[in-house]
Amino acid sequence: MTTPDHIESVVKDFANTFTSRLSEFIAARDNVPPRLFEAVRYSLLGPGKRIRPFLIYECCRLAGGTEEDAFPAAAAMEMVHAFSLIHDDLPAMDDDDLRRGRPTNHKVYGEALAILAGDALLALAFETLVNGYADNKRSSALVAELATGAGWQGMIGGQVADIEGENEPPALDKVRYIHYHKTGSLLASSCRMGCLAANADKPTTDRLGTFGLQMGLAFQIADDLLDVTSSTEKMGKKVGKDAQARKQTYPACVGLKESRDMATKSVEEAIAQLDGFGDEANRLRQLATFAATRSA
Ligand code: IPE
Ligand code: IPE
Ligand code: MG
Ligand code: MG
Ligand code: MG
Repeated sequence: MTTPDHIESVVKDFANTFTSRLSEFIAARDNVPPRLFEAVRYSLLGPGKRIRPFLIYECCRLAGGTEEDAFPAAAAMEMVHAFSLIHDDLPAMDDDDLRRGRPTNHKVYGEALAILAGDALLALAFETLVNGYADNKRSSALVAELATGAGWQGMIGGQVADIEGENEPPALDKVRYIHYHKTGSLLASSCRMGCLAANADKPTTDRLGTFGLQMGLAFQIADDLLDVTSSTEKMGKKVGKDAQARKQTYPACVGLKESRDMATKSVEEAIAQLDGFGDEANRLRQLATFAATRSA
């Protein structure tokens, strides 16, 4: 069985290989203003964990698909994720100067270009899906999934609730909604897109989608915890910001210990979704545990 330590190195190896391919994929584009191209590459190819693409590859494999099936979906998802981070860091949102150990996109390229680089990544994600699959049925299912997961009923809805929740008294129902949406939604869609890229049936897609949603909740509770307990150096982003901005977080609602317990419970709920799978789902089981117990 893969150990949690091992899964971290498996994900790191995956991230290196995937990032090289992504870099080649976005290399040559005609008529793109050079500075926009640079701003997009800066955030898309920066040193992230690539958890969402990893989920897409794993779910696609479990559903009988190939790496070729997974790549366009994974590229599109990472584009949406990069867009969400650029905009999340803007002065109008979380106002952060540091991301992945480097200055945030707007600190390097300015606010206007950062906004537009995010917009470009969102558009490029859908272009990538439409051009990435020869059969229209598969690409339209993937487009619909990504649009829903990223949109006003998904990640963007969660980001709005996150901003609106600042300066409101901490409330568990509010923070649960925020975390399921701002983070859980894209992790759920990653799992579902891995399935759709492999033409999986609906029950498999729904089960793995629920796995992703529950793992996403645990992943964001861990992000909240690390904002309290970790260091700026380890995280590559400034810690202590949530309390300062009076964000709705699990630690603010229920304290550190209860937050850890809730993350563990969410991981168990995620892993229970994998009951129909054998050892071939071990990497997903370990990844879910890693999501909650990670140190960065
Ligand atoms: C950061 O996501 C935003 C959250 C949803 C907590 P990640 O922790 O996956 O960021 P990178 O891509 O690894 O930098
Ligand atoms: C970000 O949540 C979620 C998205 C970007 C969609 P946070 O604001 O907590 O993420 P970090 O801590 O800045 O990475
Ligand atoms: Mg935020
Ligand atoms: Mg933030
Ligand atoms: Mg955070």
